[in-house]
Amino acid sequence: MAEDTLTITDNRTGQEYTLPITDGTIRATDLQQLRIDDGDSGLMAYDPAYLNTASCRSAITYIDGDAGILRYRGYPIEQLAEDATFLETAFLLLEGELPTAEQLHRWEEDVRYHTYVHTNVQKFLEGFRYDAHPMGMLLGAVGALSTFYPDAKDIGDPDGRYLQRVRLMAKLPTIAAYVFRHSHGLPYVLPRNDLDYIGNFVNMTFEIGGRHEPSPVLQRSLEILLVLHADHEQNCSTSAVRGVGSSHVDPFSAVSAGIAALYGPLHGGANEAVLRMLDQIGTKANVPGFIEEVKAGKGRLMGFGHRVYKSYDPRAKLIKRVADDVFEQTGLNPKLEIALELERIALEDEYFVSRRLYPNVDFYSGLIYQAMGYPTDYFTVLFALGRLPGWIAQWEEMLGDPEQKISRPRQVYVGEGERPYVPRADRG
Ligand code: CMC
Repeated sequence: MAEDTLTITDNRTGQEYTLPITDGTIRATDLQQLRIDDGDSGLMAYDPAYLNTASCRSAITYIDGDAGILRYRGYPIEQLAEDATFLETAFLLLEGELPTAEQLHRWEEDVRYHTYVHTNVQKFLEGFRYDAHPMGMLLGAVGALSTFYPDAKDIGDPDGRYLQRVRLMAKLPTIAAYVFRHSHGLPYVLPRNDLDYIGNFVNMTFEIGGRHEPSPVLQRSLEILLVLHADHEQNCSTSAVRGVGSSHVDPFSAVSAGIAALYGPLHGGANEAVLRMLDQIGTKANVPGFIEEVKAGKGRLMGFGHRVYKSYDPRAKLIKRVADDVFEQTGLNPKLEIALELERIALEDEYFVSRRLYPNVDFYSGLIYQAMGYPTDYFTVLFALGRLPGWIAQWEEMLGDPEQKISRPRQVYVGEGERPYVPRADRG
């Protein structure tokens, strides 16, 4: 009968070992028993960039990259995007179940109650230069929030964790809106607690002179985009939050590490990079030439490819539908034509087909954000707003997992052996 074990022969010693297989994995620490002699600290698994290493057990998000499936707590992303609000999705990620009407009401009220930030936050935002990148401001401001809430250090207290969770969810839109206003040289608009989560955020960003005409279609579209971004299991920024959080630092500091990771162009910064790429291409006629340059290794087709999805990213499919609704309201984004042509050619081209490169979540989201009136360098801030509940849920799951310890990978040392210090005067 088939057994859930792996038998390995260490050809260095001729020894045979049988390791248990659980959930399709062997424990890397089980390899430590493979030693050449007593001085050997044991065999390690070498896996730069964690291509094939599970770092945790998680019950939050399921992805099947080949089949293009994404589920939060078992619920298909398509159904959540159709019906769920962002705060409802956040509750689901954080608590594991969809909220009852009463639970949802309490959660919404708790978040609403904490939307204000200390006025000193405005003061230090004012210290940023007029052209500071919004993500730089966001990660600095969120990290600084930890200094306003020293009680957040008590990560062992479940009530305290709930409070910090609420504070983060409530204050990130306020800070994000302040960042927007700073970039535009506009006065900050205070939160309005008579509005819902999305309505309040949009009002804080766009209100001028007490006026802002809300568009239900654009607000729901933004909400769907946030739902689509809310979690994506062990991606770069989530792993950053877990890794930094594993030192038991407060959640504001851990989340600011996540924002820093998201900032990069290979991760959340890709939505910004896509728009810059479309600008650079300029016209539909230039698309074939651009594709040839990518194939020749002169840069990447931004918004394409994914470490996990080796078929169409299910979020990209849903985003294309959102784009139709938004463009119907705002008029077509002229760059859409270039994006569609890029997708058409890339999906037929052997280079992209053989590498299984498909549009990812970032390929169309930037076009929508731009149509909504957000500047290019602000797109990743919107991604951060969406990803926040995932970061917090993963952070809390990590804290509650008895197998987790401070994150500390091993290394294979390839540097110099021991050598004596050379006095400064003796160096050529
Ligand atoms: N354009 C052209 N070639 C690509 C691309 C691309 N966008 N992505 C991967 N490749 C090629 C790559 O050159 C390599 O080719 P070869 O085997 O000949 O060397 C092959 O495909 C495998 O690439 P990889 O770099 O080993 O793949 P990865 O899993 O390490 O990278 C990725 C995943 C998302 C970083 C990468 O696909 C990429 O840089 N994409 C563009 C940036 C982007 O859109 N990022 C957003 C990701 S989704 C949202 C998020 O996570 O934030």
